[in-house]
This record gives sequence, C-alpha cells and structure tokens, in this order.
Amino acid sequence: FDSGVGGLTVLRAVRERLPRESVIYLGDTARVPYGTKSRATIERYAIEDAAFLIEKGVKMIVVACNTASAMARESLRRDFNVPFLTVLGPGARAAARTTRNKRIGVIATEATIESGAYERAIHEAYRDLNGESEVEVFSQACPLFVPLVEEGETESPIARLVAKQYLASMRERKIDTLVLGCTHYPLLKTVIGETMGEGVMLIDSAEAVAEETAQLLERAGRLDTSDEPNESQFYVTDSAARFHRIAERILSAPLEHLEAVEVWGHDKLHSN
Ligand code: DGL
Repeated sequence: FDSGVGGLTVLRAVRERLPRESVIYLGDTARVPYGTKSRATIERYAIEDAAFLIEKGVKMIVVACNTASAMARESLRRDFNVPFLTVLGPGARAAARTTRNKRIGVIATEATIESGAYERAIHEAYRDLNGESEVEVFSQACPLFVPLVEEGETESPIARLVAKQYLASMRERKIDTLVLGCTHYPLLKTVIGETMGEGVMLIDSAEAVAEETAQLLERAGRLDTSDEPNESQFYVTDSAARFHRIAERILSAPLEHLEAVEVWGHDKLHSN
C-alpha cells in the first residue's frame, strides 16, 4: 500500500521481478499526503491500510510508502502477523553497498526526514556490511517533488529549478550515493541525476524492494508457482478517475480492476 499513486513505482518493479504473483494495491488517495502529517496520524492510517489488505487475504505486505515505513513499521509488526517489507530497509542496504566515499544523501518527505529512520537504517546496514559505522548521512526534505510528479512535471524547467534548489546542499557535501527516499522521486530520476552529476549513484528503493520481496517469498516457500494467470487489483480511497489517469502514465499499461473503497474502521476488525 501507499498513501496514493507514488507506490505504483514499487508495484511496477515488483511486477517486473515477480511476473507470476498477483498484486493487490491500495492507494489511500483520500488522505494523501502522509508526508506532512504527525506520527500518530500516519500510524493510524497505515494500520487501517494494512487491515484492508489482510482482509483481502494477502500473504505479505509491501509498505511502498516511505513515510509510512519510517513512522509506522513498529506498530504494523506489533499489530499484525503477516510479513511486512518496508521500503526503508532495502533502500538503506542498497545505499550501504553502493557508497565508496562513505558519504550518503537521503531525500524524502518532511515526516520521513524528521523521523531520522533512514539515517539509522543506513548506519545499521553499513555496520552489518562493513563491521563499522563510519559513514556520513545527509538528509534533505523535498516537499515540492510530490506535487510536481502528480502534475506530470517530471522533466520540465520547473522541476529542474526546484531540483537545483533542493539539491544544492547535497552537491556541496560531495556525496557519492543519493537515496530516493520517497515513492515519487524515481519518476524524477532524470532531473535529479542531471542535477547531481555523473559521479553520484541514485538509489531507487523500488528495485531494491522488488528484489527483497522475491527473496522473502522464496525463503518462506511462498512464491507462486501455479500456472494460473496473475491478476492485479487496484483500490483507492477517493475517486478513481484522477488515480486512473496518473497510474496509467506511471505503469505505461492499462489498469485491470480499479475500485474506490473505504478503509476506515478496518483496523478494528483485524488487529491482534
Ligand atoms: N508515499 C509518500 C512517501 O513515499 C509520498 C507521498 C506522501 O507524502 O504521502 O513518502
């Protein structure tokens, strides 16, 4: 699930890596953005989103929203029994494997940056990998990136101007790795890449998540090996029309099943 359309970048990567799996996507479009809200609110929303998916009988949940991953992962793991994969861990591990000069940048929503969750996860991942945590992490909130993507302004002069302003501090810090810590940012990859310059590797958590989803299901012996055709279902909490338009642009494919639903109160039915 995601707060809205952005998580489709994760769904796209998961479908590419695991073409046999059926994916059920929930975009909480009525309550997006999560990135400007408080921890208590984000936790409540995330629990309702997860409960909705559990009711649909899913075998695991990918928390595609970075903000929900940063703010609600402990509550989700405490309240439910299904395996959760948040985007945070795979993104942090990919960054720790990539950096050479031990200087990593993270860009994300205000809530994700304020939580400090990526910084902690990157230090932990770097320590696990190298036995020491001598890595520097620099963070920057980029609140205008989400609306730019939603308006289709992914390679326009406005996008370039905003990127230049937000990323100036990252350039000064001489990072060699930049984590795109928000669902929408992979769609700005070209502009962000050009702004940062060639020497900086961009970490698209979507790809890292797809790989770890495959590993998790394989370890659990839960990969779909049947010959039945896979099927994706899409649910949104606000009108389907706007979602439909943006989603087809992100996925470059028609949406199969799309339905508007309510998720309020689902937590009461399904938490432990
Ligand atoms: N999905 C959110 C994230 O990845 C971005 C949009 C929002 O603020 O809800 O952080």
